[in-house]
Amino acid sequence: MNFNNISRLRGEVKLLGDKSISHRAIMLSSISNGNSYIENFLMGKDCLSTVDCFRRMGVDISIEKNNNVKVKGVGLRGLKSPYEYLDVGNSGTTIRLLMGILAGQNFKSTLVGDKSISKRPMNRVTNPLRDMGAIIQGRDDGNFTPITIEGGSLRGIEYNMPVASAQVKSAIILASLYADSKTKITEASKSRNHTEIMLKAFGGDIKADKNEILINKVENLYSQDIYVPGDISSAAFFMCATSMIKGSELLIKDVGLNPTRTGILDVLEKMNGNFEILNKRIICGEEIGDILVRYSKLKAVEIGGELIPRLIDEIPIIAVLATQCEGTTIIKDANELKVKESNRIKSVVSNLKAMGAKIEELEDGMIIKGPTKLKGAYIESFDDHRIAMAFSVASLIADGSTHIDNLSCVNISFPQFFDILKSIIR
Ligand code: S3P
Repeated sequence: MNFNNISRLRGEVKLLGDKSISHRAIMLSSISNGNSYIENFLMGKDCLSTVDCFRRMGVDISIEKNNNVKVKGVGLRGLKSPYEYLDVGNSGTTIRLLMGILAGQNFKSTLVGDKSISKRPMNRVTNPLRDMGAIIQGRDDGNFTPITIEGGSLRGIEYNMPVASAQVKSAIILASLYADSKTKITEASKSRNHTEIMLKAFGGDIKADKNEILINKVENLYSQDIYVPGDISSAAFFMCATSMIKGSELLIKDVGLNPTRTGILDVLEKMNGNFEILNKRIICGEEIGDILVRYSKLKAVEIGGELIPRLIDEIPIIAVLATQCEGTTIIKDANELKVKESNRIKSVVSNLKAMGAKIEELEDGMIIKGPTKLKGAYIESFDDHRIAMAFSVASLIADGSTHIDNLSCVNISFPQFFDILKSIIR
């Protein structure tokens, strides 16, 4: 795929559902009573891994036309012991959230995944779940897959989150549904709160106030109809591409704008980006709106602290954008990037260097000096979907051709990425 020498991006696009919300919709629908209908579900590989795991535990999930999904919930205690391993593929959200649910079941189950998952740390979930009473085994004392969980009776805990991670927080929240006493979770920096919002709608006894969450067990959860807003993490690739290509203008419709996810908008604003939010509303407890973005001359910014969890998945594309900003962009406090689908500090720095960017690696981030005219290069995706997409965008503004290995990994989170990109190139 070669997109160099394009003139501008123009048009109107609508994206498939948010990845985080799609996973949670399948999970909560599966363990509630009644039929749930999920609209605008993300048919990406990660979310389909979640569907597959729940089907293996006896949940009837039908994928219908137009990205809609019907789930026949089996109730909090209706999951069946799977007779095969639960394969989470590449999906960190599937394995970590599922560990929380499995910790409360009266059966033993084993979770496996792909090569990337086998290197990602699970002790951040294993440890609090063990505190709650779950028996968990796995390589390196339960840190790596295959992970076997023997669930059963759990107790509530008080947990101060050592890292800002919505996956860890959500695993504890889901396990708390099965605990015989109250759980309190305190976050140092607030991470995405889709589990809290959705669980409340399903009838969960959960109170979230600032950085504190209280959960009590309930007898039942009740099915819901869910509309999944467009994924802001996918929109980010087009927002950044539009912002840096002269003469570009793009309307991205129905994007999720939950404030725990909109760090990318804060950054674009600080960079002097040109965008407006239109048609803002709330659906299923989630803020949503259209983003109209135009090219503008950008300036460098500093990104760190509490902003990081609000844009953690957008850092690869923000780094590409920073190469076009006037001045020095500093990204710090982003240690978590090292344990994503690839080590995203190294993947971003090595690939941007290959394209001629002035970039320096930091222990917890990177420093980028701009603006620099990028040049085409051989890019390693490290089989990481967000690296493949960030560098596809970089190739749009590079001189000469760019080759990216394994472009098919975009199917993890954004199967329509290249079709949409082609449709807006003018
Ligand atoms: C996610 C949380 C984040 C994010 C991931 C999705 C979620 O991971 O990077 O893509 O759906 O909860 P961490 O919780 O590990 O930060």
